[in-house]
Amino acid sequence: MPRSLSVHGVPVPTLGLGTWKLKGDDATAAVRHALDIGYRHIDTAQIYGNEAEVGRGIAAADVPRDEVFLTTKVWHESLAPEDVKRTTDESLRRLGTDYVDLLLMHWPTDDVPLAETLGALAEVRDAGKTRLIGVSNTPPGMMRRALEIEPTLANNQVEYHPYLGQEPLLEIARESGTFLTAYRPIANGNVMDDATIQEIAEAHDATPVQIAIAWLLGQDRVSAIPKSGTRSHIAANFQALEITLSDDERAAIDALERGQRMVDPDFAPDWNA
Ligand SMILES: NC(=O)c1ccc[n+]([C@@H]2O[C@H](COP(=O)([O-])OP(=O)(O)OC[C@H]3O[C@@H](n4cnc5c(N)ncnc54)[C@H](OP(=O)(O)O)[C@@H]3O)[C@@H](O)[C@H]2O)c1
Repeated sequence: MPRSLSVHGVPVPTLGLGTWKLKGDDATAAVRHALDIGYRHIDTAQIYGNEAEVGRGIAAADVPRDEVFLTTKVWHESLAPEDVKRTTDESLRRLGTDYVDLLLMHWPTDDVPLAETLGALAEVRDAGKTRLIGVSNTPPGMMRRALEIEPTLANNQVEYHPYLGQEPLLEIARESGTFLTAYRPIANGNVMDDATIQEIAEAHDATPVQIAIAWLLGQDRVSAIPKSGTRSHIAANFQALEITLSDDERAAIDALERGQRMVDPDFAPDWNA
């Protein structure tokens, strides 16, 4: 199982800890625990309201800052260039660090031209405040346009799990040498009840959640960020890195695809754009 991939010369640990909905001391404890048991990739966002707590978790863990791959995201109401720059500075202050490793446009918007937002992200990167820049929730046609505007983009973070395929975006990631980060990777825990995944889990003496994570991490140019605030889950999810699925097992999980999108707020883009 690949534990890291490389994009624009920067190594990215494939398994990260998602932190949406983790608040206060729970967020700090989860991040600290994850880093202490081996995670080296943490995902947060301005809108999660936990950047300060995530930063405290990183500071408390026995891991140097430069060994942690840290992502945050600029909210869609802050995509005008001046807002990108200002809110990134605010994020860095809350996170207690001089830079993040990946700064994403959280959701596209019609309110600001894409080129302006991407230009601002690149300026922030060139100022040393992030190592990599990217987007999130960006459908295939828009992703191709974004890469034409800003070929140094590194990542698109999208919902991706056994029930929602992302073939066109995977193709773009592989062609462009970028990578896809799978959010909602265990379908919010729904994979636990899946008979197909349960059967594969039994064969590996593993859990269905571990199998879903292993299915994602076994794919070229894919990272996954399962969220957990539960110590045993955080540890179990990390063990998914040890699991290698057979081609038949992978095909059985591929066949579960049913276009089931779980994260689809009213400001979401046209997913076919
Ligand atoms: N870019 C975006 O727009 C966007 C949107 C959604 C999510 N995300 C990112 O992606 C991350 C993951 O997505 P998500 O949080 O929506 O969903 P998820 O990771 O698919 O599922 C999280 C849920 O699964 C449970 N869980 C985790 N590990 C488990 C285990 N081993 N056994 C049983 N249950 C387990 C968690 O509960 P416990 O906490 O109790 O373990 C939580 O209820 C987010 O936290 C966030 O960082 C990004």
